[in-house]
Amino acid sequence: MSDTQSASHRGFTLWFTGLSGAGKSTLSSAIAEQFRALGYKVEVLDGDEVRTHLSKGLSFSKEDRDINVRRIGYVARLLARNGVIAMTAAISPYADVRDEIRALHDADSVPFIEVHAQATVEALATRDVKGLYKKALAGEIEHFTGVTDPYEAPENPEVRVRTDQQTVAESIEQILNEMRERQLIS
Ligand code: PPS
Repeated sequence: MSDTQSASHRGFTLWFTGLSGAGKSTLSSAIAEQFRALGYKVEVLDGDEVRTHLSKGLSFSKEDRDINVRRIGYVARLLARNGVIAMTAAISPYADVRDEIRALHDADSVPFIEVHAQATVEALATRDVKGLYKKALAGEIEHFTGVTDPYEAPENPEVRVRTDQQTVAESIEQILNEMRERQLIS
């Protein structure tokens, strides 16, 4: 793909949501790499990274999570309406805030693709890459999503990948297929 082509693709937001460790960061960074190789303009707003910059100092209370997620939604929408593929990878546990961000995208006619990275708490606690589930289950972390804090799964996401049942490659292919069907990528 030439530079001219890469500059002209349509922007959209690919919004990952799911429990900690469900694969949001893995999938978004792998897909972003593929997009970059194809010449697409892409930015990833990763949960952990946003919290060290844009949302530094925010807690995991509902109020602070809502602020964090709204900020991510705001930046994603600005990027997407300027032709960038904006990918987000925050837990974004509350359905009303995700829907609010979707409505703001709709108002700007910017496509919003919600991807639910779904895995059971049991599977995630077994894998426990960061050791957080062990701590949360031992009562050492307050308000831990899926253990002592709510996670409201999307009812009708554009894509739902079962990251505890399929490989990373399978999930990526499922997501890319959905975007091809919607003619967001070629
Ligand atoms: S949110 O709800 O969207 O504002 O959360 P997010 O900004 O994505 O931050 C999630 C990452 O923070 C770590 N962490 C916690 N997650 C959930 N609950 C609690 N209490 C918590 N404390 C720290 C955790 O590493 C999350 O990383 P991911 O990438 O989701 O695994």
